[in-house]
Amino acid sequence: MTTIGTPFTSSAKKVILCGSGELGKEVVLELQRYGVEVIALDAYENAPAMQVADRSYVVSMLDPDALRAIIEKESPDLIVPEVEAIATEVLVDLEKESGFTVIPTARATQLTMNREGIRSLAAEELKLSTSPYAFVDNFESFKKEVETLGMPCVVKPIMSSSGKGQSVVSSIDEVESAWKYGQEGGRAGAGKLIVEGFVDFDYEITLLTIRHIGGTSFCDPIGHVQKDGDYRESWQPHPMSKIALEKSQDIALKITDALGGFGLFGVELFIRGDEVYFSEVSPRPHDTGMVTMISQDLSEFSLHARAILGLPIPEIVQLGPSSSHVLLVEGVSKEVQYHNLDKALSIPGTQIRLFGKPEVHGKRRMGVALAIGESIEQAREKAAKVIENIQATLS
Ligand SMILES: Nc1ncnc2c1ncn2[C@@H]1O[C@H](COP(=O)(O)OP(=O)(O)OP(=O)(O)O)[C@@H](O)[C@H]1O
Ligand SMILES: [Mg+2]
Repeated sequence: MTTIGTPFTSSAKKVILCGSGELGKEVVLELQRYGVEVIALDAYENAPAMQVADRSYVVSMLDPDALRAIIEKESPDLIVPEVEAIATEVLVDLEKESGFTVIPTARATQLTMNREGIRSLAAEELKLSTSPYAFVDNFESFKKEVETLGMPCVVKPIMSSSGKGQSVVSSIDEVESAWKYGQEGGRAGAGKLIVEGFVDFDYEITLLTIRHIGGTSFCDPIGHVQKDGDYRESWQPHPMSKIALEKSQDIALKITDALGGFGLFGVELFIRGDEVYFSEVSPRPHDTGMVTMISQDLSEFSLHARAILGLPIPEIVQLGPSSSHVLLVEGVSKEVQYHNLDKALSIPGTQIRLFGKPEVHGKRRMGVALAIGESIEQAREKAAKVIENIQATLS
């Protein structure tokens, strides 16, 4: 039985959100609808989720002592990680020793922050099909594995996200630069890399999978386009053969059952014909899943909130072919302004989210356009048009 009390009293249901990006902001908003008291953490001030949380702390979540001190002081009912870069060993300790609840589980956050952990679980323990792969920690074995796996192959630091340190090796003279780039791009500095055989997929999907009190539910598959390691556009439902969809759901069920706990997961899959390859999984809402803010009666964020609060999800209603298109801003500014929004939103069936990020330095995702239409093609065109119409100025 789920009981929710009154915020700012001893009966409050308290959640600590570790990471305060745009996905976390939506999670906070959904939790607030239930009167949950939310505390947001991140390494910089005025991060998106902090702007809507009840209070916040600026802290490096990679600093185990600082993270532990805040969690012990706040003593939340739930610890909800929003990013991978967290001192997850603290979460493991707090779960084991002090009985804190980590979403979905401390072990899941630890396994998924490291490609070696999640890949070994998926391919070796669960025997899911994946690209062929090898882990390497020195240049000689790296070169050898590139030759064994064959080219093209994909190189990634074991601890990285958003394509950081990732490259494709297509010829032997790219081996050295891929090694260097991989060494620089890892979250924890230089270290191990994974080399993966290149999967020549027809398309890739994110299968949002929710573990909740009543069982496991799936959203319709989300198709997406990735560029420079980041998603640019996503849409739902991505058309799939019955066999490929069944295989996808089977893989998603196996990997999420193995990770356990309550919450929404983004299972990333590559599809070629009727073959499905597991790529990776986020134990939390997924950026490509932002499309669900317009395509479903319950977005991935509201599904996550319901699942982690122990509430049932008897049904997820798909509202029609939809798309999301990211708003990228490039340059240097602490005062970005967005113009022409009236024109952008004059297209029927469209919405905009601006994340309110305090700063841009280089290229940064600052918002997203959402569209619903008659077909995937039309929805994609509409969302692209919305973005085209928005003008961002930097000052
Ligand atoms: N073995 C592979 N074969 C073909 N393409 C791949 C392979 N691995 C990765 N990619 C492509 O690169 C994209 C990013 O890879 P991956 O998801 O592993 O990186 P990431 O840094 O964890 O990204 P994110 O954090 O944004 O999910 C994939 O969505 C896919 O388009
Ligand atoms: Mg990915």
